Amino acid sequence: MWGGRFAEGPAAVMREINASLPFDKRLWQQDIAGSKAHVAMLATQKIVTEADAAAIREGLDTIAGEYRTQGVPIDLALEDIHMATEGRLAELIGAPAGRLHTARSRNDQVATDFKLWVRDAIDAVDAGLAAFQAALVTRAGEHAASVMPGFTHLQVAQPVTLGHHLMAYYEMVSRDRSRFADARARLNLSPLGSAALAGTGFPIDRDMTAQALGFDGPTRNSLDSVSDRDFALDYLMAATQLSLHLSRLAEEFIIWASQPYNFVKLPDSYSTGSSIMPQKRNPDAAELVRGHAGRIAGCMTALVMTMKGLPLAYSKDMQDDKPPVFEAHDLLALSIAAMTGMVESCDFVAPRLRQAAEAGFSTATDLADWLVRVADIPFREAHHITGTAVKLAEREGLALDKLPIDALKAIDERIDERVYAALSVDASVASRASFGGTAPDQVRARIAEARAALGLEE
Ligand code: ARG
Repeated sequence: MWGGRFAEGPAAVMREINASLPFDKRLWQQDIAGSKAHVAMLATQKIVTEADAAAIREGLDTIAGEYRTQGVPIDLALEDIHMATEGRLAELIGAPAGRLHTARSRNDQVATDFKLWVRDAIDAVDAGLAAFQAALVTRAGEHAASVMPGFTHLQVAQPVTLGHHLMAYYEMVSRDRSRFADARARLNLSPLGSAALAGTGFPIDRDMTAQALGFDGPTRNSLDSVSDRDFALDYLMAATQLSLHLSRLAEEFIIWASQPYNFVKLPDSYSTGSSIMPQKRNPDAAELVRGHAGRIAGCMTALVMTMKGLPLAYSKDMQDDKPPVFEAHDLLALSIAAMTGMVESCDFVAPRLRQAAEAGFSTATDLADWLVRVADIPFREAHHITGTAVKLAEREGLALDKLPIDALKAIDERIDERVYAALSVDASVASRASFGGTAPDQVRARIAEARAALGLEE
């Protein structure tokens, strides 16, 4: 299609390094939609005749049907999806096919196609995340008052509720959805009509094509339009951030499912067995979600490096924009679906979670707080008294609330029987009723807000 000035055809290696059709065939729907919007505008502006436009439109519909039922045929000589479709159009309708590319370049064409693809990808991710959040709030609702150890440094710190812990992930995913929504709003201007780099001399109507493709309007600088891949990077950066969140939950599931923890039983449907150790149930899905985060971040890095230092406007390096976005999107979709499935169908072992919360002197802070509140002891001194009590409990092999009152009084005579009411894990979580705290009533209030935001029933 560009052979006019060439005496020789490309070398086989040139053909291979140049071709993007093997991967950009994924843009076929967006490419046909873009071409249909373009040709409708060309006809309205009388740049092509109605008859030619009708033939082109019909041909494009035929091609869409072929692609849908038979897939996109791969002929490396055709280079990319844009030329493959135009070539097929020429086979189908002859000469009028040559008028489709009037007032257009593959540079604005691919930018338009890819934006449309990323926009659809964002919508798919958002739908997946809404389902993931629904799973989180549902399980959190079941466990709003289920006590478990809260950790810092992976050391037992203070009791929290499992509902509170799960809702932490709801919050992370809310930020992820907001990042994807930002990316979507920012990308939604149409590059079509920017042509190769400088705009076009034909009397095109860019508002018309923008509107037909669901964009908010046309982009404002043709050089930027054909060289901008911010939208792909925005997607990859939001995807990376999300994959980090998914990897943290995956990691917790892996740890929690390990026998010494036994906090959760992952469903059989998301586990695998071992070929030599019959007792094994491996959390492979969670491990792969953890692993995929690395690959998704790698895709993001790949495109960052591709774009670094590129002079304006289009350079062929930019053809390498698509594989990392496609790869990251496929990995992300699988990761979201797998985590949603695990959250929906795992069994949390509530008695074991409670037992673990009761071990490790998780209510030591509550003893110190009680000494401050009831006995009016300065916090630093209360901290020291509590440390002595923990040391004694450890030596005696007792939980804090099982230490006899005489032993506590021997440590500090200002302690009395009322302290026991503060030392249970239930009293501990119930007391943390500050906004956003782990008290079951607080957790239930956050769950109710989340359910309303997701449009779920009370
Ligand atoms: N396949 C190309 C890409 O994805 C389309 C743009 C080609 N433009 C050009 N001037 N060679 O980047």
